[in-house]
Amino acid sequence: MNAIVIVDKNWAIGREGGLLFSLPGDMKRFRALTLDGTVILGRKTLDTFPGGRPLPRRRNLVVTRNPEFAREGAEVFPSTQAALEAAAGEDGDKLWVIGGGSIYTALLRQCKRAYVTKVDAAAPDADTFFPNLDKLPGWEVASVSEPVEENDLTYRFVDYINTAV
Ligand SMILES: NC(=O)c1ccc[n+]([C@@H]2O[C@H](COP(=O)([O-])OP(=O)(O)OC[C@H]3O[C@@H](n4cnc5c(N)ncnc54)[C@H](OP(=O)(O)O)[C@@H]3O)[C@@H](O)[C@H]2O)c1
Repeated sequence: MNAIVIVDKNWAIGREGGLLFSLPGDMKRFRALTLDGTVILGRKTLDTFPGGRPLPRRRNLVVTRNPEFAREGAEVFPSTQAALEAAAGEDGDKLWVIGGGSIYTALLRQCKRAYVTKVDAAAPDADTFFPNLDKLPGWEVASVSEPVEENDLTYRFVDYINTAV
């Protein structure tokens, strides 16, 4: 299982329920990596998608504590553990934790890799964060891309590996 996330230089990922950045190169990579796989996400992240709709061409496993929650095209689970059990037969390389903060925190320890887009900027007023993998024991940088410049921002794709899994 992998995590995929875009962070600012302080590992911030969100503000007031939304993303901090919208970078076409990052979105293209997210799509290419996750397409035809399975994504695990929290209900709040699902609600940030256009029309609140699940991601197309991916199996969407949504976690919520609301037993009445239903959304066309999504499979709904009462816990991250239940979502993981539903994905038990899947190829781990095609299983993606896509947020938000609460779901990353719950599942990161079980991820083998984290595909992190690191933006070289500090987003003001961020309220949701990803764990700082540069300080978390067991996580090592596997590769760093060349810098990409887009929308007056510079970012790099930094792939981490969890040596504990
Ligand atoms: N930068 C990135 O790559 C990235 C990616 C994704 C999201 N984000 C950002 O992250 C923020 C959202 O993160 P978030 O932490 O607030 O919300 P979230 O993780 O997307 O969703 C939280 C919701 O998931 C459900 N949930 C969480 N843990 C659960 C558990 N153990 N059992 C059952 N249900 C559980 C609950 O849904 P109910 O309330 O329905 O019970 C909870 O309110 C937004 O700002 C979003 O834009 C950033």
